[in-house]
Amino acid sequence: MAQQLARESITKGPEETASVEPPAARRSREPLEDEVSGPPVSPECERRLAELATWCRDLEASPRCALPPSPEDSARLGEMLRGIWAASDALGPMGLLRNSPAQRRFQEVLGEYFWQSPIIHRCFAKPRGYAGDFLMMEDVYRNRPKGETTLGRWMDRWVLEEPGFVAVRNRRAKLETLLRDEWTSGARHVMNVASGSASELADVVPTNPFQEVTLLDQDQGALFAATTSLGRRMDPARVRTWSGSVFTLIRGKTSLVPGDQDFIYSIGLYDYLSPRFATALTARLWLNLAPGGLLAIGNFNGHNPMRRFIEAAMDWYLIYRDEPDMLGLAVGLPNVEEAEVWTDPTGCLHLLLARKRGARPAFGSPA
Ligand SMILES: C[S@@+](CC[C@H](N)C(=O)[O-])C[C@H]1O[C@@H](n2cnc3c(N)ncnc32)[C@H](O)[C@@H]1O
Repeated sequence: MAQQLARESITKGPEETASVEPPAARRSREPLEDEVSGPPVSPECERRLAELATWCRDLEASPRCALPPSPEDSARLGEMLRGIWAASDALGPMGLLRNSPAQRRFQEVLGEYFWQSPIIHRCFAKPRGYAGDFLMMEDVYRNRPKGETTLGRWMDRWVLEEPGFVAVRNRRAKLETLLRDEWTSGARHVMNVASGSASELADVVPTNPFQEVTLLDQDQGALFAATTSLGRRMDPARVRTWSGSVFTLIRGKTSLVPGDQDFIYSIGLYDYLSPRFATALTARLWLNLAPGGLLAIGNFNGHNPMRRFIEAAMDWYLIYRDEPDMLGLAVGLPNVEEAEVWTDPTGCLHLLLARKRGARPAFGSPA
């Protein structure tokens, strides 16, 4: 059995929810469910939506649909989507607003095609109460298209090769490299914040046996999946779980010991945190880091070309951070030896890598 550090109750204050969502998205959702806000959809946008619906029907009826998306079809689909964003004002800094007429019309006209893809539909339906749950992440990592219909499988294949999802796989690969490198240089205690199922750790521990793994997540199902797969690859007594919201962690109400972690990372969480909470959480995690330790924080940046599509088809809103925003998270932290930003090969997302000054405990400490 994995050790459970604490089972925090998830309290909901005015500024926090059990599943983190960007305040901007919450603000844009202020209207009642049925209330639509924003400018009406232009005739040009309607024309482009109808054009894409026709294209989807043609694709569905074509033998091409049973094959992997051709570069021509992917390019044409991308071009039509960009035409819709341009005709709906979605390219502005606010993106495609939740509950806007443009978002509604996109879903009414095109939902029946895109939602045949299990991944797109899961992100939209949010069966665990928030987008990007660990099961959806596992599907993206596995990169094996599913779908009950031919068009659904085509759409699944297409979306899995879109830059945002490729970036997620790149980020996971980078994390594996960091985990191995840190272990090689003496790290033995690792903490994964908003761990999901922590599949990158499960892949690493057989060859790099961390002495102790600490996992934090608000979703007990994710922690169960993580401890089950990790428990097959390392001593389950060395896996500690902390179930609760990071907002509780920020308030300092935890049994976590300052300075006892050699490597702390969090990916797929900061994209939901306002600057205030992101700064507060970073300071809290930094406190937990040992001298010589590494903190890695992931975030999508504003250049993510999938942004409008995830807003329109998945009703999924993120807080984007560019390189200076990422570096800004390390400003004011004490004893920073070095802070740098890694950008994934698609250019869609960043990792802040901040090293704490000081020497690691002696090399070769027992595994
Ligand atoms: C996109 S997934 C990322 C999972 C994993 N880090 C990965 O990259 O595969 C986001 C994870 O954050 C967790 N999460 C969301 N809000 C949280 C909060 N306020 N406190 C703790 N965990 C949270 C979710 O339960 C989910 O497992």
